[in-house]
Amino acid sequence: MTDSWPRQLLEWYSAHARDLPWRNPPGAVLPTGENWPYRVWLSEVMLQQTTVEAATPYFHAFTARWRDVAALAAAPDADVMQAWAGLGYYARARNLLACARAVVARHGGRFPASEAELRDLPGIGDYTAAAVAAFGFGRDAVVIDGNVERVVTRLFAIAIPLPAARAAIRAALTPLVPPGHAGDFAQAMMDLARRVCTARSPRCLACPLADACAARAAGTQASFPVKATKKARPTRHGTAWWIEADGHVLTIVRPAKGLLGGMRALPSCDWRGAAQPPLAGDWQSLGLVRHGFTHFDLELAVAALHLRGRPALDLPGATWLPLDAVKSAGLPTLFAKAAQLRLGPDTSGGLPLPANKGTRLHDKFS
Ligand code: ADE
Repeated sequence: MTDSWPRQLLEWYSAHARDLPWRNPPGAVLPTGENWPYRVWLSEVMLQQTTVEAATPYFHAFTARWRDVAALAAAPDADVMQAWAGLGYYARARNLLACARAVVARHGGRFPASEAELRDLPGIGDYTAAAVAAFGFGRDAVVIDGNVERVVTRLFAIAIPLPAARAAIRAALTPLVPPGHAGDFAQAMMDLARRVCTARSPRCLACPLADACAARAAGTQASFPVKATKKARPTRHGTAWWIEADGHVLTIVRPAKGLLGGMRALPSCDWRGAAQPPLAGDWQSLGLVRHGFTHFDLELAVAALHLRGRPALDLPGATWLPLDAVKSAGLPTLFAKAAQLRLGPDTSGGLPLPANKGTRLHDKFS
């Protein structure tokens, strides 16, 4: 291991950095505008569990609509939840609003620059606090995400399984963060991890750090990071109810706490087995939707009932939605997919169905 690799990495980054709308170009002085840390924070929340490609259109939509943290803090909850629809992991959207309001209430609408104060805000953990401090304020924070973990476990051949390896990764990396360049250094690691030091087939011949890499020297790069064996994810079963009358469908608002909390949705059971429909009648099956949540897979049967009139129903947030408004109603992807069984494709909302991290057959939400 040579200790010049951080400098080599920064040089590589000057030539290869991705141009991203929330990113300061390599070596450039940080923008001083008040909304710079806001843009960094927003991007970091969106990028938790979501790919750059899926998050980017949402980032543009949010920053066009809510220019700074005070504007976002003043937005009605329902507008923000609707704008987030399709990005998944909806607790992030609830925390986003709570955080924006806390920045206004506690800090007069200016994000604090210290990791400790950032960490005290809703939805900000160790990683996001370090990222906002480094990318938003130019602080010398140690920013470690899954990409950085992969690069560092290979460079140092850290063979401890994750997550136990995290202490060793931090200890190895901390003394090497170049003072004054922590933001570029971390974002360089992220770009290197995605383009060169990839999970499955690392392109060591193209790597500026190949000579410094302990795993490469041993030919074991593909075996890092070592992961603890995962428990199989269970499959849960549930039913959603498509109740249609006069060209409208009945939607509800899900309880604020829990999965897809606060989101507009079709009525459904709690996804733990058999369910009673909210109305008696001649229910027809529309088919099945499969969906991956963080801790379980869901098989959601969708059943339809056609009524003559539109009764007032005593369900939370009950609203009869015109069928041609389903597309723009901001239904989370699970329910947009359920709606597709009745209405055909392209009912996901204003933005394309997202490609969250790890997505293969279906999207992941929690
Ligand atoms: N993932 C999280 N933050 C990122 C950033 N600033 N650039 C690229 N990928 C990221």
